[in-house]
Amino acid sequence: MMKPRVIVTRKWPAAVEQVLAERFDTTLNAGDIPFTATQIKAALLNFDAVLPTVSDKLPAEIFPEQPQARIIGNFGVGFSHIDTEAAKQRGIAVTNTPGVLTDCTADIAMSLLLAVARRTGEGERQLRAGEWKGWCPTHMIGAKVTGKTIGIIGMGRIGKAMARRAHFGFGMKVVFFNRSRVDDEETRAMEAAQLPSIEAVLEQADFVSLHCPGGAENRNLINAERLGRMKNSAFLINTARGDVVDEGALADALENGVIAGAGLDVFAQEPHVPERLIRLENTVLLPHLGSATEETRVAMGMKVVDNITAFFAGEPIPDRVV
Ligand code: DGY
Repeated sequence: MMKPRVIVTRKWPAAVEQVLAERFDTTLNAGDIPFTATQIKAALLNFDAVLPTVSDKLPAEIFPEQPQARIIGNFGVGFSHIDTEAAKQRGIAVTNTPGVLTDCTADIAMSLLLAVARRTGEGERQLRAGEWKGWCPTHMIGAKVTGKTIGIIGMGRIGKAMARRAHFGFGMKVVFFNRSRVDDEETRAMEAAQLPSIEAVLEQADFVSLHCPGGAENRNLINAERLGRMKNSAFLINTARGDVVDEGALADALENGVIAGAGLDVFAQEPHVPERLIRLENTVLLPHLGSATEETRVAMGMKVVDNITAFFAGEPIPDRVV
């Protein structure tokens, strides 16, 4: 029997590429050069499965009328870069990789929180530049983390993992906003309080951490008005998606002392990072590292393998989005 034809848009961990090559008629991207829109369209026309990732863009207009592709196995949990409605209309299944990147993404969110509060990025820059003049009682004073209030926007898997770290690791009080009611053993163990609005969370929190999906429904969710609801001493952490925050409004808020600082792992137009955010000392900026550990990236790839294997075997697909 002919093996399904599968194309991978970027370089993946070697262990995963090996399994893909064994199971399928696989075309890899050894050079890791991002696909153009034309190449993605051609992939949808000529392969049974297309395996893109979060840095690819699959808007409605990229989908051919009669694609060969029957499944898009996304390497990543977020799928706002794929027009899932367009895929569905053409009978293409879409899958993602939930669960396996929860801890590592929460770890990066916590690293950002600590780094921006305790000014570790600034401190390291100062030391490496040879500008450190030695210890003194007023040098580079930051904000204490232990015992403060964290506000989580989006209490899904990663939001809860961040809340756990903050509460059990740093004795923080947890308040959160989530569209649906969340009342389970885990949130009760943390005594996490679900508040009725985003504004209520912003007003109470010393640290606001975003864990909601990107895309049209949450675009610019954190805008100038909402930044204005945060305490002047508060910090914003974003490991979700860049488009959830109005970056211009955030730069204004950081420049004008509306909030104290921001730790960002994601940006609206990656890899572009607004110059105003780079110039500020009260930002900590990372190049989308949330899931970047050996264990997690292999696990993400293996989830894609499991999803497309189930699909081609006619079995229920574990992580089907549409
Ligand atoms: C995802 O999977 O959506 C993450 O952003 C990748 O780290």
